[in-house]
Amino acid sequence: MNNLSEQRILLPNDIYIKDIDSIETISINNYLSSGGYKALAKAVKELKSQDIIEEVKKSGLRGRGGAGFSTGQKWELAAGAEADEKYLCCNAAEGEPGTYKDRCLIRMNPHQLIEGIIIASYAIGANKSYIYINEDYAKEIAALEKALKEAKDKGYIGEKILGSGFSLNINIAKCPNKYVAGEETAMIEVIEGRPAKPWQKPPFYPVAKGLYGKPTLVNNTETLSNIPHIILKGWEWFSKIGSHKSPGTMLFTLTGDINKPGIYELPLGTTMKTLINNCGVGIKNGMRFKAAFPAGPSNAPIIGSQIDVSLDFDSLKEAGSGLGSAAVTVVGDAKCIVNTIAGFSKFFMEESCGQCPPCQMGTVKMYRLLQKIEDGNGEVNDLANLENTCSLLEGEKVYCHLLKGAVLSVKNTIKHFRNEFETHINK
Ligand SMILES: Cc1cc2nc3c(=O)[nH]c(=O)nc-3n(C[C@H](O)[C@H](O)[C@H](O)COP(=O)(O)O)c2cc1C
Repeated sequence: MNNLSEQRILLPNDIYIKDIDSIETISINNYLSSGGYKALAKAVKELKSQDIIEEVKKSGLRGRGGAGFSTGQKWELAAGAEADEKYLCCNAAEGEPGTYKDRCLIRMNPHQLIEGIIIASYAIGANKSYIYINEDYAKEIAALEKALKEAKDKGYIGEKILGSGFSLNINIAKCPNKYVAGEETAMIEVIEGRPAKPWQKPPFYPVAKGLYGKPTLVNNTETLSNIPHIILKGWEWFSKIGSHKSPGTMLFTLTGDINKPGIYELPLGTTMKTLINNCGVGIKNGMRFKAAFPAGPSNAPIIGSQIDVSLDFDSLKEAGSGLGSAAVTVVGDAKCIVNTIAGFSKFFMEESCGQCPPCQMGTVKMYRLLQKIEDGNGEVNDLANLENTCSLLEGEKVYCHLLKGAVLSVKNTIKHFRNEFETHINK
């Protein structure tokens, strides 16, 4: 248990990874008795679309799916798009290693998410929404199906919601077990019945031309789960939690060499040290801190001298890394960092969809060089070759950010741990 729990918004308690499978789902009656669906009633009965968007904009909520884009600004664009039909897609895909937070949110409290989806759909004028979820999340899909039926029976979904003029259908769409399938344009392809391959952006972003060619708002599960709380308690309340430019809490999935791997809800701006020591109860097997990858395999590591870094979008950027979806992977000092990064690199190689040649070939080249070095077969020029490859790949135009993440983690791991790579090569 962490001592920052009074600032929780989304989860009633910490969840340890070993307990994920036994999470109990909050019933609709419990949700209603704790104020559930009051925000929806307030939204559709008292507020106009513009009022809701202003509230979300002022709250400072930023997307929890990876990029940290302003949620209110995205909603404003979606609401302003002229079209006869609009869609909302809730992104509940979770293909990144070490990410489990959306799964837990859905299992624990599907109604919180559903209420957020209904309010967001009302605000942008969408009458059809999708929850796009990993096809192998059977228990979470079952929890959603049950909750959607309960919400429909109570009149929160369907025709003329709570007597207003607003109607909405919510469907579940299944996401294939591929990391790239969580990218928003790949998601649209899948929902339309095609393989999970991202499109080139620009010219078209989903918010202008998305699902079936119509304006489509895409938000992450955690982002949308925050909405009922913001509408009910107001933007000022929300903006006081967390840090100035990253308000609210974040669900940190803490894994790797840690005593208590789990999902911890903390105010944004909490330090890495607090997350590791107070929540995770320190590094396992008596090891010391060597590094932590705060955005899973998709960005630079934080090293020992940076352990006091605040976990928020801007502080991590200033520290040369990023928050991503807060899948924090810890590496103890007895572990080989070359082995860690070769594992990440293999993941990207296997998950590249193969559409963009620089991504397809570049991820293979990076992995082969890393594997050669890790196996002890590295030659003197392999490290320079790897670094040149990273520099070349950084300038390449590709359809999505998969390659960027692959390059950032390799490039920065070499920067921080060059001596370990050299030791492998020279032994
Ligand atoms: C390769 C790749 C995989 C992604 N996977 C996910 C995912 O599993 N879940 C998710 O919510 N966003 C994922 N994203 C980000 C989405 O494209 C999109 O930015 C996000 O769902 C927007 O929601 P937000 O504004 O609420 O963060 C991924 C992006 C990339 C480039």
